[in-house]
Amino acid sequence: MNKKKILTGLQPTGTIHIGNYIGAIKQMVKYQDEFDSYIFVADLHAITVPQDPKTLSSKVKSLLALYLACGIDPNKNTIFIQSENEYHANISWLLECNTYYGELSRMTQFKDKSLKNINFTSGLLTYPVLMASDILAYDINYVPVGGDQKQHVELARDIAERFNKKYGLTFTIPEPLIPEEGAKIMDLIDPTKKMSKSSENQKGVINLLDDKETIRKKIMGATTDSDMTIKYDKENKPGISNLINIYKVFTNKTTEEIEQEFKGSNYGEFKKEVAEVVINEITKIQEKYNQILNSDEIDKVLNKGIEKSRQEAKEKYELMKKRMGFGR
Ligand code: AMP
Ligand code: TRP
Repeated sequence: MNKKKILTGLQPTGTIHIGNYIGAIKQMVKYQDEFDSYIFVADLHAITVPQDPKTLSSKVKSLLALYLACGIDPNKNTIFIQSENEYHANISWLLECNTYYGELSRMTQFKDKSLKNINFTSGLLTYPVLMASDILAYDINYVPVGGDQKQHVELARDIAERFNKKYGLTFTIPEPLIPEEGAKIMDLIDPTKKMSKSSENQKGVINLLDDKETIRKKIMGATTDSDMTIKYDKENKPGISNLINIYKVFTNKTTEEIEQEFKGSNYGEFKKEVAEVVINEITKIQEKYNQILNSDEIDKVLNKGIEKSRQEAKEKYELMKKRMGFGR
């Protein structure tokens, strides 16, 4: 039997943080043996808000090096840059003409972003249709994303079902794969908010490219409570619970094991250990990252990935056109 297919993309908007690493990339690494996997850099999505042409391509390259350094295996994944595959935008147009303005204007992320800046482009509105194209082009079964992207994957399902009904079976219906609660990493300074690229205070965000001392300082400075026990209690002890979650994913220990290990320790001692395990793993990633960035590996991986992705997306595009009645 054919393997089920899985796909995700990240936007090349500066460096990524341990929330992205745990929520999206580590998930892909976990599933890469089981599924036929696709991972790409969503640079066409990045331009829905202004980007500096001078730095865009180096951000794309940096994200690709991070994928590989984090353990995304090029022999098990199709890795590519979205803008190098013209079929995504072509498919997107055909899908746009089968998507209602009302659906797009109701998307939570669109509402938030368009309220923040009234001078938004039409690309910000149609962004989820391009995301549907990324997924539907490859007959993807599962899409690992954070909770914020769930609505967009559901829209992709709606669009696919509508198209299949109207023109005949064309698309596989995808499902979002949302990481379990523990995999949502919160801000270190305000542990009731998720760790985010757009956080105002960068002290609450651990970036994969932060140096050792910066990581140590950020973790030692994390907001905690005055109760003094290391116990998981998300409601009353959000800061400690977040550090327990981080320690958990970096050590593969259970919450009970961690509570036992730090019984009687104070917060300083616990934070020091959390910093150690995070620094240990991130340092290894950074070493690989620097090697990869200075080699020709990225180009080799991309050449292989783009060929496969273009071929598959082209087939889907041609099928869509046939179903819709295009041709001579
Ligand atoms: P974004 O930063 O919104 O471009 O997110 C890219 C992907 O990273 C999302 O789809 C999520 O899967 C994941 N992600 C972002 N922030 C977090 C977080 N704080 N905790 C866990 N996963 C996250
Ligand atoms: N919109 C996603 C984000 O901002 C990135 C993305 C683009 C994506 N296309 C996708 C994620 C397809 C999953 C599948 O995080």
